[in-house]
Amino acid sequence: MEHREFYDKNYGEILDHAPDREPERQYYFLDQLKEIIEKKKREGGYQATFHIETYGCQMNAKDSEKLCGILRQAGFTEVDTEQADLVLYNTCTVRENANLKVYGHLGYVHSLKKKNPGMLVALCGCMMQEPEVVAKIKKDYRFVDVVFGTHNIFKLAELLYDRLMSGHMEVDIWEGTTEIVEDLPAERKYPFKSGVNIMFGCNNFCSYCIVPYVRGRERSREPEEIIREVEQLAADGVVEIMLLGQNVNSYGKTLEHPISFAELLRRVEKVDGIERIRFMTSHPKDLSDELIQVMKDSKKICRHLHLPVQSGSTEILTKMNRRYTKEQYLELVRKIKEAMPDISLTTDIIVGFPGETEADFNDTMDVVRQVRYDSAFTFIYSKRTGTPAAKMEPVPEDVVKDRFDRLLKLVQEISGEVCGRDVHTVQKVLVEEKNSHLEGYVTGRLGNNTLVHFPGGSDLIGKIVDVYLEESKGFYYMGRQEG
Ligand code: SAH
Ligand code: SF4
Ligand code: F3S
Repeated sequence: MEHREFYDKNYGEILDHAPDREPERQYYFLDQLKEIIEKKKREGGYQATFHIETYGCQMNAKDSEKLCGILRQAGFTEVDTEQADLVLYNTCTVRENANLKVYGHLGYVHSLKKKNPGMLVALCGCMMQEPEVVAKIKKDYRFVDVVFGTHNIFKLAELLYDRLMSGHMEVDIWEGTTEIVEDLPAERKYPFKSGVNIMFGCNNFCSYCIVPYVRGRERSREPEEIIREVEQLAADGVVEIMLLGQNVNSYGKTLEHPISFAELLRRVEKVDGIERIRFMTSHPKDLSDELIQVMKDSKKICRHLHLPVQSGSTEILTKMNRRYTKEQYLELVRKIKEAMPDISLTTDIIVGFPGETEADFNDTMDVVRQVRYDSAFTFIYSKRTGTPAAKMEPVPEDVVKDRFDRLLKLVQEISGEVCGRDVHTVQKVLVEEKNSHLEGYVTGRLGNNTLVHFPGGSDLIGKIVDVYLEESKGFYYMGRQEG
């Protein structure tokens, strides 16, 4: 919606003070900020460029699109380098190395700011929800201009405005929220596909995981709001959507009028123009028979399920607070494969969770052998302060490293065998981009998420076309367009 409409509808005139209600308040600050930026540009020499560095998961990627939308509306232009007038780091803290990367970048951006003192540096995202991190920024990184968290990204315009007015570091972190602010500007990275938040936060408290502490309690968006967004996306030419949540299978349970995730999928499927529906992430404990049925009956829901197992050992799963056993997980996989024999399954696995024995690890290897995943993200356990697992006895580093290498080898072996299963067939491919290595080629994805490279021009980008899969290269195909 055009922001002027908000004022006209709600106030009848442009206010000279900020309204209390959202999103009207943010549209007010967007106008104020825009005026300042335009003035600086007119004075000469100021380009108002911005750059966002995004770490972590799809949620953060989606948040960055929203932040990008706000900055563009305020008059900034995106550039592909940290040598910009505004640099924003959208951080992740799920593992320690995600954290360390940010401090590395901050050192670099400090050197840039010394040369360009008018530069603005902002930090947001999951890391900022940790009080120790914010204390460290305040103490050791005084050149940072704006710090905010995961619950108030919609406030970016207001925070930048406040920073420019006050002249010192603005820090605004919320411990939690029940609010979901709709209708702010957002940018899309791709014109033909888009993520759609269906819920925020997580209530599962897996014992190793920091996400529930930094993303807050689970909140579902109203189905009507989701459908409205999907319809809008379809009208804008989007053909593929990815429904996003930390645990999509528990979607809707806490709404005033509860609805299941399977029911939401049924409604999304009815939106004309949307050809492909994906979702992330499914927690095995909440994956219902109803969902399997809806997927099976659907022409639009992609034959791909990311189903993080984390460990194959029931004992470790109990310590992880995952609330399923090895046998329950395997039974679930059996049911899914029975309903959809062509499904592609992917997973996340943690190696070296505290107390993991060789026998526990062999259970994980056993699950990988039985399920035969298309691909698996394998992680070395990383201790996160404040989580229950942080107090448990760690496994020696060399033992973990050895197990990690063995697991990775097995995962890659199997994935090489499984991924090529569709070779010599014709499949629908959504073309995503020009191939960066092969001149005259484009790259697209099958419904099951596997990549395909084939000869074609950029006019195909965003289209779904039939491609004959000539050759399997293990993790991707080479093909040619049919028809
Ligand atoms: N909500 C999703 C996962 C979000 S985090 C789910 O429940 O599946 C993405 C992945 O990071 C997790 O699946 C897990 O494998 C990994 N992860 C989370 N915390 C971790 C930690 N402390 N150490 C190592 N890996 C971790
Ligand atoms: Fe973390 Fe578990 Fe929630 Fe996933 S379900 S975000 S692993 S606590
Ligand atoms: Fe990282 Fe936050 Fe996602 S901690 S994995 S960016 S929810």
